[in-house]
Amino acid sequence: MLITGATTGIGYELSLLFAKQHFNLILVARNSGLLQQRKAELEKSFPVQIKTFQLDLTDPDSGKKLFASLKEENIPVEILVNNAGFGLLGPFIKTDLEKEIQMIQLNEIAPVILSKLFLKQLPKGVPGKILNVSSTAAFIPGPLMSVYYASKAQLLSFGEALAYELAGTGVTVTTLCPGPTVTEFQSRAGQHGVRLLKTPVMNATTVARKGFKGLMKGKRVVVPGILNKLSVVTMKVLPKRWLLPVIKYVHQ
Ligand SMILES: NC(=O)c1ccc[n+]([C@@H]2O[C@H](COP(=O)([O-])OP(=O)(O)OC[C@H]3O[C@@H](n4cnc5c(N)ncnc54)[C@H](OP(=O)(O)O)[C@@H]3O)[C@@H](O)[C@H]2O)c1
Repeated sequence: MLITGATTGIGYELSLLFAKQHFNLILVARNSGLLQQRKAELEKSFPVQIKTFQLDLTDPDSGKKLFASLKEENIPVEILVNNAGFGLLGPFIKTDLEKEIQMIQLNEIAPVILSKLFLKQLPKGVPGKILNVSSTAAFIPGPLMSVYYASKAQLLSFGEALAYELAGTGVTVTTLCPGPTVTEFQSRAGQHGVRLLKTPVMNATTVARKGFKGLMKGKRVVVPGILNKLSVVTMKVLPKRWLLPVIKYVHQ
């Protein structure tokens, strides 16, 4: 199975769960030192073979290179986890456009490319699984994190549509929608001190466990945690004119 963003946070916890179940893993991230460290840790603790790819998935050609290498080495992929992603906090007028383009590339375009290449290499009739790590941000526009929230809405919409298209083929698509979770995400997004992080947050181990379980059951959407479930229901029923000021407030 192949997992992007497997070196820290939710991706790392997911890789541990797969390794515990004796899945051989293909780990993708940019930091090669950390990739090697994760490979060594996992191979020492579990009877698994780990392959690593140091790739920057904001490069639109990286997905093609990855699947070409796997084909060359005759390594089939039966589970794909599109987990790598990042956010950026700030008023849109001030945030860095280049970073936002990279975010769209990583959070939206890379999962589309990888899903396509994954499905094309999957032999007909072989059951496959895709797990897309979206967010509760997918259910509402996000003032002060507008591009990030939009990217997660795209991933949820894409995943749900694909799940429906593939129904009956043996291939399932699960979209995991965590709420705030303690990982490197917060520092990378520049979220230090925002009100959102003073509310109860989940840990990456629990989020990964819920995602793993949902993936194995072939669920279409998994929202981990009762508070996240409640906030998703609230986002679905309350008018946006009430909700958007709250979303902006918690990001300050
Ligand atoms: N934490 C939260 O509050 C939260 C809530 C909802 C959803 N999520 C989603 O959960 C997913 C995982 O995030 P996390 O919270 O676990 O964050 P994290 O700890 O920052 O992990 C991100 C992972 O992605 C990799 N990555 C980042 N940029 C990459 C790139 N350009 N190419 C390849 N790999 C890249 C990172 O490794 P390198 O830096 O070495 O590349 C790392 O392994 C993301 O999609 C995020 O949007 C997070």
